[in-house]
Amino acid sequence: MHYCRSLLLYFLVCVCAASNPRNAKSSDNLEHLEHVDSLTQNILFQLKTHEGLGGFEPGDIAPAFTVQTLDGVFVYPPQKESRSALIVHAFTNKSAFLECLWTWNESLSDLLEYLPPAAQFLFLSLDETASRDALWMREQVYRATAHRAKEILSRLYFSPVPVYALGNWIPRVLYSWGCGGHNCGLAQVVFTSSDWSIPVISKRLNARYDWLNGRWGADPYRLLDAGDGCKPDASIKGAVAWISEGGCSFFTKIKNMAESNATGVLVYALPGNPIQDMNCIGDECSTSLNIPASMVHVEPSVVQALRLGQKVNVTFQITPSPNFFFAIDQQGALSGMGWFLYPTFRFIAWQAQWFVFYDGLQERLKSPASVVSVFNRSLMQGEMGAQAAVDLPADLLDYDVLELDATLSCPGRRDETCAHWDHTVQLYVCCDRIGPYCNLELGRWITAFRRGTGHWLTDVSSLIPLLNNATCMFTMKTVPWAMPWMASLNLRFSRGNRTGNYSERLFPFRVIPLFNGGTFDKDYNNRYHEMKFSLPASTKKVELYAVITAHGYDENFCGEFCVTSHHFLINRSVNNSLTFDTAGSPLGCAMRVPEGAVPNEHGTWLYGRGGWCDGLQVDPWRTDITSQLDMSGTNSVLYFGLFEGRNPNPKTDPGYIIMYSYLVYYK
Ligand SMILES: *[C@@H]1O[C@H](CO)[C@@H](O)[C@H](O)[C@H]1NC(C)=O
Ligand SMILES: *[C@@H]1O[C@H](CO)[C@@H](O)[C@H](O)[C@H]1NC(C)=O
Ligand SMILES: *[C@@H]1O[C@H](CO)[C@@H](O)[C@H](O)[C@H]1NC(C)=O
Ligand SMILES: *[C@@H]1O[C@H](CO)[C@@H](O)[C@H](O)[C@H]1NC(C)=O
Ligand SMILES: *[C@@H]1O[C@H](CO)[C@@H](O)[C@H](O)[C@H]1NC(C)=O
Ligand SMILES: *[C@@H]1O[C@H](CO)[C@@H](O)[C@H](O)[C@H]1NC(C)=O
Ligand SMILES: *[C@@H]1O[C@H](CO)[C@@H](O)[C@H](O)[C@H]1NC(C)=O
Ligand SMILES: *[C@@H]1O[C@H](CO)[C@@H](O)[C@H](O)[C@H]1NC(C)=O
Ligand SMILES: *[C@@H]1O[C@H](CO)[C@@H](O)[C@H](O)[C@H]1NC(C)=O
Ligand SMILES: *[C@@H]1O[C@H](CO)[C@@H](O)[C@H](O)[C@H]1NC(C)=O
Repeated sequence: MHYCRSLLLYFLVCVCAASNPRNAKSSDNLEHLEHVDSLTQNILFQLKTHEGLGGFEPGDIAPAFTVQTLDGVFVYPPQKESRSALIVHAFTNKSAFLECLWTWNESLSDLLEYLPPAAQFLFLSLDETASRDALWMREQVYRATAHRAKEILSRLYFSPVPVYALGNWIPRVLYSWGCGGHNCGLAQVVFTSSDWSIPVISKRLNARYDWLNGRWGADPYRLLDAGDGCKPDASIKGAVAWISEGGCSFFTKIKNMAESNATGVLVYALPGNPIQDMNCIGDECSTSLNIPASMVHVEPSVVQALRLGQKVNVTFQITPSPNFFFAIDQQGALSGMGWFLYPTFRFIAWQAQWFVFYDGLQERLKSPASVVSVFNRSLMQGEMGAQAAVDLPADLLDYDVLELDATLSCPGRRDETCAHWDHTVQLYVCCDRIGPYCNLELGRWITAFRRGTGHWLTDVSSLIPLLNNATCMFTMKTVPWAMPWMASLNLRFSRGNRTGNYSERLFPFRVIPLFNGGTFDKDYNNRYHEMKFSLPASTKKVELYAVITAHGYDENFCGEFCVTSHHFLINRSVNNSLTFDTAGSPLGCAMRVPEGAVPNEHGTWLYGRGGWCDGLQVDPWRTDITSQLDMSGTNSVLYFGLFEGRNPNPKTDPGYIIMYSYLVYYK
């Protein structure tokens, strides 16, 4: 239920974006979720470029350090050989986001539930209250994790020394990686009244991103008291409603205020209560509200001024701050943690899961293989994309395993330099300009929203017959309007890690192109016709190989977020089907972080999608169809694609399917 409404909102956002041709084919981006004014931008620029603050970038090897903890001394690197990533968090109670991260039960239980065993956590505080903060953070973990506290606490270290007194290089990273967005930056409200000489400034947490479609503007808003907001109140029209928590749900309050034509909503926590992540519950989530809303602590001076009928204005600002997080991966390299969409330790756990994936990938890359470098941080941009002509030694083609070792990084080392949108990247190869195999697709990936850590290994062994010992032209590209990526690609030829008698293995010797995708409209299936094929006598095995992704959004959010199925009917009798059943599910892609989906991107990377995820390779779908065939006679294959088991029939702009499909013959 929750995600339907999320997607509704998503759709509205995308409609606006579609008027810009650069955005028309792209997905969401929450870049402007927070208003960052030009002053803030300027400070950010200075933070990034100020001399003396540089010196550490993502990818640099972390120097050794020690930090005093509540129980002793934390030493990095660990004395014992360890395959753990270290996550460093600098807390400050000046951030409502961090206050919520540390007080919301679900956030704390996510820490216990999802932090992989191969991760350690060092907790610091930016403030002079560090020793109290350290005890409090540890207490929060105790409370939330109860009987399993001991297990998790053995990997958590709390330092009573404030960041500014650490005496090592850690503050340098935290300060020079500072920002004004998520994971750093202090979102605040500024109250002014003609009866006060100075403004009252306090922290705020914007409501969860996915159910409210409103943004705070830069100009002052009039603030008016609207009680607990559990009833509409016409007098609030044109002002920001100041309402207390409790009495009814956040959704009810905000909906009432939207219907009363308020320009925004500030919900204050009752004394002693923490700021919460305002979210909708159950059916509430099927209504998207078009109003900005934030939660703050109660401010006695504001309450009093409003009670006395004094005029109070409120403006919204973000004060840049040091970064609240960084990490050191298993290889000892400094790493950013990306963007947390809402305050839960789950985002930290996702990043830690990705470190485990990445560590495993490094191990896999150590296994023996003949490596051919195609791209090495080549600029991929524009109509041409990245191109390289490569001579493949003839003996490589005797191997039976071909893996694509692909990396997409950014022009600079920080995520800020990365392309903003998610786009499809395709790798084409042409070894024989006049042959039937020129410029067929060899691999496909989807770029991450503004994160440059993607690195994937994709087994495309079935497609070895597309290559030969002539000069092969490789082209890797995305839409021409995409911002630049730096692409690296190595071809890894090997005999795999399988045991057994190599000379008894079957080798792919021919690839027959089948069907391609197209516009997913009511005529989609009329465009496909049955293809007949008969097999060369030497054929021992036949495989169906397809790479299919669904994109775009009609009124059913098809194909990116709808459940489509793809069928290859052999001999008019056997259905071979691929169904994208996690498309549109709230965490469909977040669940794939352990497989290499880049976590904590700057957009709604969490939702499941039609055959793909942001920041991930598209896995080829391979099915052995030998038993379905007449090896000596004629066979047939027909493809069709369905939306929820029916022919697609969109009323609004249709989506589209990108598909390359092949029969692969083995002998
Ligand atoms: C954080 O700040 C809020 C009010 O701003 C206060 O109620 C709370 O006790 C503080 N928590 C800690 C750990 O200092
Ligand atoms: C959060 O957890 C604590 C300790 O387990 C419990 O006392 C409290 O009631 C919980 N709060 C909510 C809102 O579930
Ligand atoms: C409040 O905002 C209004 C309109 O922007 C402005 O005219 C007025 O001076 C402001 N009052 C205070 C106290 O900031
Ligand atoms: C809110 O604005 C709408 C559109 O202008 C209007 O129809 C409605 O009556 C207003 N509601 C209130 C409570 O003022
Ligand atoms: C890529 O280029 C870098 C720097 O020029 C070099 O050190 C590295 O070995 C190259 N990698 C491959 C796979 O060729
Ligand atoms: C390419 O391979 C074919 C068949 O294996 C062989 O006849 C030919 O000489 C090779 N060409 C080159 C340039 O190695
Ligand atoms: C062989 O490789 C696969 C995938 O590359 C991996 O999952 C598997 O663990 C490897 N097996 C061995 C014995 O190394
Ligand atoms: C491997 O298979 C080939 C062909 O079947 C056979 O000649 C050879 O003896 C086998 N080798 C081993 C070590 O079993
Ligand atoms: C193949 O599957 C589709 C979708 O489930 C179904 O409509 C069709 O009748 C099936 N065809 C055969 C021959 O089983
Ligand atoms: C496949 O279809 C052909 C006719 O097109 C038929 O001769 C053959 O028996 C079928 N094979 C199987 C395994 O059904």
